[in-house]
Amino acid sequence: MTPSTTNGFGTLYGIGVGPGDPELITLKAHRLLMAAPVIAFPAPIEGESFTRRIVAPYLDGTGKEEIPVRMPMSADRFPAQEVYDRTSRELGAHLNAGRDVAYLCQGDPFFYGSFMYLYSRMADDFRVEIVPGVSSIMAGGAALGAALASRNDTFTVLPGPLPAEELAARLATADAAVIIKVGSHFEKIRGVLAASDLLSRSRYIERATLETECVLPIEEVDPGQVPYFSMILVHKRGDAWKT
Ligand SMILES: C[S@@+](CC[C@H](N)C(=O)[O-])C[C@H]1O[C@@H](n2cnc3c(N)ncnc32)[C@H](O)[C@@H]1O
Repeated sequence: MTPSTTNGFGTLYGIGVGPGDPELITLKAHRLLMAAPVIAFPAPIEGESFTRRIVAPYLDGTGKEEIPVRMPMSADRFPAQEVYDRTSRELGAHLNAGRDVAYLCQGDPFFYGSFMYLYSRMADDFRVEIVPGVSSIMAGGAALGAALASRNDTFTVLPGPLPAEELAARLATADAAVIIKVGSHFEKIRGVLAASDLLSRSRYIERATLETECVLPIEEVDPGQVPYFSMILVHKRGDAWKT
């Protein structure tokens, strides 16, 4: 049986833990993380979870129950339905037993976050709370030292897997834009930026806020070395926001 009130049942928290720097989590996220007995987080099929690593300074040694939710990190294979079905049952069992569960979300939970697939499965039956986080886009603007958008600029978010024609069409009408999920799509995106005469207005950022953060002009990026955690910010008006 699933609960209609919180009495005796746990709460599922979708907690934004920010773009990578452990100091960029909110006080609320930290409090809930420390209080929850069960911690779940997305992880690759093999190896370490980037999201878990963000909160390692707080979580390591606490002895909480940890549930890595392993799935392919490739954007093209989302959503992994059976993984979310199974995870919602596993997390639901903890909630039914009265244990709160903190689900860690890189950046913000509802900004292209996988947590939404659990939310859609569980929010009707359990108490679920979202704790917003600092999104990687905000970290990208900070890394560049450039405003994302100003005055009446339109700011467009573009997933890199979109076809080249669609990227070009949407860039044509944007004042400023961010292209996320760059990874293996880098060469296509660079081609679109070149054809749109936007190369000099674009900059590449990888692993924003981490010690390995790197900001480069597009021409200097090695396409074979572009990680999943990278983005391209485009400012059509260049530095005009300063005036
Ligand atoms: C599935 S989206 C998740 C976004 C996340 N929920 C957020 O609010 O930032 C993943 C994409 O966000 C971008 N991203 C996330 N963290 C990043 C970082 N630290 N540096 C650069 N890009 C990042 C990359 O484009 C990556 O492919």
